[in-house]
Amino acid sequence: MKIIILGATGMLGSDIVSSLKKSGHDCHSFNTSTINICDKISVHTALSTCTDADFLINCAAYTQVDLCEKEHSLAFSVNGTGPKNLAIWCREHMIPILHFSTDYVFDGEKKGPYVETDLCSPLSIYGTSKWQGEQAIQSEWSQHLIFRVQWLYGQHGTHFIQTLQTLLKNRDTLCIVADQKGSPTWTADIATLITTLIASPPSWGLYHLRSQGETTWYDYACFLKDIFDETCTISPQKTEEYPRPAKRPKNGILSTDKATRAGYSLPKWKDSVSAYVKMIYSRQKQKDR
Ligand SMILES: NC(=O)c1ccc[n+]([C@@H]2O[C@H](COP(=O)([O-])OP(=O)(O)OC[C@H]3O[C@@H](n4cnc5c(N)ncnc54)[C@H](OP(=O)(O)O)[C@@H]3O)[C@@H](O)[C@H]2O)c1
Repeated sequence: MKIIILGATGMLGSDIVSSLKKSGHDCHSFNTSTINICDKISVHTALSTCTDADFLINCAAYTQVDLCEKEHSLAFSVNGTGPKNLAIWCREHMIPILHFSTDYVFDGEKKGPYVETDLCSPLSIYGTSKWQGEQAIQSEWSQHLIFRVQWLYGQHGTHFIQTLQTLLKNRDTLCIVADQKGSPTWTADIATLITTLIASPPSWGLYHLRSQGETTWYDYACFLKDIFDETCTISPQKTEEYPRPAKRPKNGILSTDKATRAGYSLPKWKDSVSAYVKMIYSRQKQKDR
C-alpha cells in the first residue's frame, strides 16, 4: 500500500514508518522540513505527488504539554488547524485519515475508565488543542480513524523511562506523583498494530488504545527501579506537591473495550516496558563493543 506519514521523525511516527516498511509498504514520510501542516498551501504542495495514496497517517503534533500553556497559538495551529487541513485534503482525494489524540482531552474526574463517548473537558491548552483537532477531523471527513493514546515511550523520543533512568543513577532519593493513573504504552506496539490494521481497517471512528493494565507514575517508577537494579529511595508524592504549568488528568484510564471488540489490543504494559528496556540495553552493549 502507498501510505503518507506525517510527523515521520517523531517518537511514534518513526516506529510506524519502520514497521510499515518492514511489511513492504511504500512510505511517503514528512516532517517539519518538508511540510507545515498548519498551512493549507504547504499541505497541497507537499502532498501533490501522493494523491493516489491508500492511507494518510498523522503523527504530527505539538507535544510539549507545558510549553503549550505559553504557546497557545502554536498549539492550536499544529494540533487543531493542522489536522483540519489534512482531513480536508484527504476528503478531496478520497484518502482515509488515521490520527492520534490523547487522554488529556478528559479532566480525570471520572471514577472508572473513560469510554469514547464520555464528555471531553480538557484541563490544559494541549488537551484543548488536541480535542479541537479530533473535532475538525470528525466534521471534515467521515473516513477517519482517531486513536486516543497515552503515556508513550519509544526509542526515538524523550519520555519518562529515559528521564527516570538518569534520575535513578544520580539521586539517592526521588519523589514521584502517585495520584495520576494511566498505562505506559510502547510506540513500537502501536506501530505493529497499525500495520496490521490498515490492511483491514475497523469501522471508521474514534477508539481508545493503550497497553493492558494500569499504574501510577509512582508504581511505574518503582517497577523501573527494579528493572534498572538501582538503590535510590522513591517516595510517593501528590500532584499538588509538584505543580507544573499544564494540569494533567488524575484518572487517565482509557477503556479499550471498543478496540478489543474490533479485534485490536496491545500487550500488558509491564511486558512491553521490560522488552523495551532489554532492547535498549542490548543496543547500548552493541555500541560499546
Ligand atoms: N508522547 C506522548 O506521551 C503522547 C501521549 C498521548 C498522545 N500523544 C499523541 O501521539 C502523537 C505522536 O506523538 P509523539 O510523542 O510521537 O510526537 P513527537 O515525538 O513530538 O513528534 C511530533 C512530530 O510532529 C512533527 N511536526 C510538528 N509540527 C509540525 C508541523 N507544523 N508540520 C508538520 N509536522 C510537524 C515533528 O516534526 P520534526 O520531527 O521535524 O520536529 C515531529 O516529527 C501525537 O498526536 C501526540 O499528540 C502522544
